[in-house]
Amino acid sequence: MGILTNIELSGSNITLSEPTFLRLRDFIYQRTGIFFPDNKKYFLENRLYQRLKALNINDFETYVRKIQNGLMDSELQQLINQITINETFFFRNEAQLEALERHIFPELFRRARQRPGKSIRIWSAACSTGEEPYTLAILLQEKFRPLLTGIRVEILATDINSQVLQKARQGLYRDYAVRKIAPGLLQRYFQPQSTGYQIAPEIRQMVQFRQLNLMDRWNMQQIRGMDVIICANVLLYFDERSKRQVVNSLYDSLNPGGYLLLGYSESLYGVSHAFKPVHFTKTIVYKKECHYA
Ligand SMILES: C[S@@+](CC[C@H](N)C(=O)[O-])C[C@H]1O[C@@H](n2cnc3c(N)ncnc32)[C@H](O)[C@@H]1O
Repeated sequence: MGILTNIELSGSNITLSEPTFLRLRDFIYQRTGIFFPDNKKYFLENRLYQRLKALNINDFETYVRKIQNGLMDSELQQLINQITINETFFFRNEAQLEALERHIFPELFRRARQRPGKSIRIWSAACSTGEEPYTLAILLQEKFRPLLTGIRVEILATDINSQVLQKARQGLYRDYAVRKIAPGLLQRYFQPQSTGYQIAPEIRQMVQFRQLNLMDRWNMQQIRGMDVIICANVLLYFDERSKRQVVNSLYDSLNPGGYLLLGYSESLYGVSHAFKPVHFTKTIVYKKECHYA
């Protein structure tokens, strides 16, 4: 799509001027927390050109003015769907999954047994097309199945992009997404289809998908009582201010003793001192301290 759009863009002479780019990036930043540095102007130009075409708008100035003035409310979601980076795949972060399997999940099952509700709550907070929360569900079924009869495990999976959530709910994946899944697991937890692999119903029913903007303070406040939050490979698109806001919200959503897990190249350095870093083999996770843990 990139190459084609570039050709069309230069041919049609529709470009994003510097002042319009600055207004557009401010608008996106205010709504989503995603910050586009100067060198990403071409990216917005390429991705949003399709929207201009679909709306029959001939220049970026008109498009940006209309969305800024609230003249195209439904366009905001389309814009967000175009500009988010949704790269993900099953079993993406091996070291983190090992820490979950060996240390974090066993601790949570022990703790859950002593709680009245006997439940464990997990949140994949930028789940994209669903590979991350489904990976967790597969790990739980594969390694903790006997414990799942006595303890209820809920996995909430959220994203700002409505299109990826639709795909996540469908649970149909192509070869690229499943490339890191061991053949035995692929056989047990997927049904082969002519167009790819369909996630098994027992895994599908463990995950609840919901649309949520991490920058939406009010809706973030509604999420409480989480034991594990994975917020991976999303904060790297945010600036310091929005990172801090999101991490503070995630802190409030965690139970005392709960864990926050970030992406492979992400850390809370300079963002929050509220968590205790816990080191496992090749990965660091962040614990919300409690008196009894
Ligand atoms: C690169 S994907 C990460 C997927 C998965 N967590 C992983 O690590 O494989 C980043 C996701 O963050 C989502 N995202 C970006 N800004 C967001 C926001 N403000 N609120 C919620 N999700 C957001 C995007 O839509 C995208 O699906």
